[in-house]
Amino acid sequence: ETVSLLSVPFGYGAGRHGSEMGPQAIFNAGLMRQLSELQIPVQDEGPLTVPQHYNSTHPRLKYFHEIIELNTNLAAKVSEIVARNSFPLVLGGDHSIAIGTYAGLAQHYKNLGVIWFDAHADLNTEDSSPSGNIHGMSLGVGLGRGPDLLTQIKGAGPNLKPENIVLIGTRQLDAGEKEYIRSSGIKCFTMHDIDRKGMSNVMDEAMSIVTRGTDGVHLSFDIDSLDPLEAPGTGTKIPGGVSYREAHFALELMYESRKITSAEFVEVNPSLDAGNKTARLTVELIASLLGQRIL
Ligand code: ARG
Ligand code: MN
Ligand code: MN
Ligand code: MN
Repeated sequence: ETVSLLSVPFGYGAGRHGSEMGPQAIFNAGLMRQLSELQIPVQDEGPLTVPQHYNSTHPRLKYFHEIIELNTNLAAKVSEIVARNSFPLVLGGDHSIAIGTYAGLAQHYKNLGVIWFDAHADLNTEDSSPSGNIHGMSLGVGLGRGPDLLTQIKGAGPNLKPENIVLIGTRQLDAGEKEYIRSSGIKCFTMHDIDRKGMSNVMDEAMSIVTRGTDGVHLSFDIDSLDPLEAPGTGTKIPGGVSYREAHFALELMYESRKITSAEFVEVNPSLDAGNKTARLTVELIASLLGQRIL
């Protein structure tokens, strides 16, 4: 199966600049070399065209119009990749691009499972968001929770179902997000759960939830899920994260399961990085997802 690499050099969903340079940093860190070592057939789709800066603004949703346009284009592209039977591997960009990715996937999967690997839940609404940054709302949009214009992007929302979603690595939740997780029943494996059960058990449980009654499984991997000591190049660092080995192990298990049908890696911000450490880490993590083994 061919992997289609789709770069999305877009960072308006984040509170600070720089994640729009993420895809280039990941390529510079040797992504193509790594994939060719794995002998994976790769199609480079090139960078998605990103919208111009609009003059119109929204009082509480930063870069609202740009984000609608970007995700509309991204959804069409992702849908086209799946239609070709290729595996979409989306490189962000900030996490607001998840909206376009699953909107595109929704054209093909009626019951999509989602693994949201992230320090955050990204389940805010314009009312509960402390920042107005849409990258903190993108999973909510998929659940129909969010501004109409975003949930109305074709396939965006409400398209995901709470029972088909797992959060892994969670350690920063705003009040409205906690309330929503409790009432919706979304399965949330916090850092506490990882400490207690170990990543192996967490992944077993997670895979069984996202594969039950679903017709595809999307991995949305926010690099800030890792501990900031491993991944300093990201905009919303939270201490106490997933370790280097835990992250690799989780991705190795996802590969072994053969259940993942699409993936995105987001929130790499080279302007905050130590050299290109976080981009290099991202390349290694992608390799684990695609079958890289120690022996
Ligand atoms: N919860 C915070 C907010 O809504 C941070 C969200 C960070 N999201 C991310 N994709 N890095 O602003
Ligand atoms: Mn996120
Ligand atoms: Mn995050
Ligand atoms: Mn289900």
